[in-house]
Amino acid sequence: MENKDFREFGHRVVDWVADYFENIEKYAVLSRVKPGAIKARLPLKPPAQGESMESILADFEDIVLPGITHWQHPGWFGYFPANNSPASVLAEILTAGIGAQCMVWQTSPAATELEDRVLDWLRQMIGLPEGFAGVIQDTASTATLCALLSAREKATGFTSNEHGFASGLTVYASDQAHSSIEKGVKMAGYGRDQLRMIPTDDTYAMIPEKLEEAIAEDEKKGLKPACVVATIGTTSSTAVDPLAAIGRICRLHDTWLHVDAAYGGSACLLAEMRWLLEGAELMDSFVMNPHKWLFTNFDCSAYFVKDPGLLIRTFEIHPEYLKTGADAHVKNYRDWGIQLGRRFRALKLWFVVRSYGTEGLQALIREHIRLSRLFRRWVEEHPMFEPMAPTPFSLVCFRFNGGKDDAALNAFNKDLLERVNASGRVFLTHTTLRGRYVLRMAIGQRTTRERHVREAWEIIVRSAEALLKA
Ligand SMILES: Cc1ncc(COP(=O)(O)O)c(C=O)c1O
Repeated sequence: MENKDFREFGHRVVDWVADYFENIEKYAVLSRVKPGAIKARLPLKPPAQGESMESILADFEDIVLPGITHWQHPGWFGYFPANNSPASVLAEILTAGIGAQCMVWQTSPAATELEDRVLDWLRQMIGLPEGFAGVIQDTASTATLCALLSAREKATGFTSNEHGFASGLTVYASDQAHSSIEKGVKMAGYGRDQLRMIPTDDTYAMIPEKLEEAIAEDEKKGLKPACVVATIGTTSSTAVDPLAAIGRICRLHDTWLHVDAAYGGSACLLAEMRWLLEGAELMDSFVMNPHKWLFTNFDCSAYFVKDPGLLIRTFEIHPEYLKTGADAHVKNYRDWGIQLGRRFRALKLWFVVRSYGTEGLQALIREHIRLSRLFRRWVEEHPMFEPMAPTPFSLVCFRFNGGKDDAALNAFNKDLLERVNASGRVFLTHTTLRGRYVLRMAIGQRTTRERHVREAWEIIVRSAEALLKA
């Protein structure tokens, strides 16, 4: 493609995205294609000759777009948000255009130094203690794996990287912790059997006394408690584990404390939510995802560590071909995680923080929390619905309760969710809490307004009434 054509199509693509933002409500939130439908429209063999951008873009609209689920739709209330913003998208275009691979300082000094600075901004914005140093990972799953690997190294006196290890190390997380903890425990070689799922209380938060008991029991058996993962904002219900109490136990037993705030971390931007981080000085590492609830398009996960030396000691490796004259004076983020090659992700976070400012970001997050409280009130006031968990952030867990037993209610709520999502106007997902099928209303899209939340509630109530009649 000639540069002049790139210019022309570049303008067209930006126009397309701007139109998409403007008209997104016209799409059904959840793609309605049947499995295999998209693949069936793709040729079995790659094209031998280059095709025109005109026809590629036409196929994008015709073939690809129907198979897209619209995460940026204001009726998106499923899972957690993965919201973006115009500033973030513009930065991604620049990142792709520059095409820098930012593995070490020399391969783009600006990428390293911007990441360093913008993560310290983020640290200040969410109120993490001074001294915590940040690095961008692709996902929270990767960040948690990094924490588990660092904890493993520390617990074995930095011998496991050298000689391997025969477990004997244990890991603890609540029975509500995200599946990435279990995955990480398996991958880091602890062994699934060494993961203790600590019981939770009525709010689905970890019970510190149960953690203490589990650790004591393991120590009695000669095992070494290597890592506790506490969650600020669990995936099912956004429960908050009591950080300070857990942190004290970790310090007592010389155990790594990793905090998974993948979704909930963004709320720490708000002064009124800072209670979430009480005890933060006791953490060893912390992850939050700007790619969830901070308007920075996927992927961008911020991983903070108290002692970067431990992280670097776990991951650093010095092949001759990667050595540079600057190594003694700079950060080389290749040593701060698993991957060598790195995208320039800091640029989009920088664009987002600068374009909204801290106050702009706070206003959006505060509004999402307000809307969730409003939705919860409607649930509470309706005689046939009930909330199923506290709402500390912007997720409301609820269900229809027409007075039947739990098995019948589970089936009813499952049908209800299907009916609601079939509207195409909104998309919610579910979880189970203590065996009960629960609908999750996760409010966090950049363009979601009160009218969208109200519409969702009306669809839910209407669908329940229709199901009752049926
Ligand atoms: C609490 C929590 N931790 C971790 C994750 C995994 O996030 P990622 O997709 O960035 O690995 C999620 C995803 O929703 C989550 O809710």
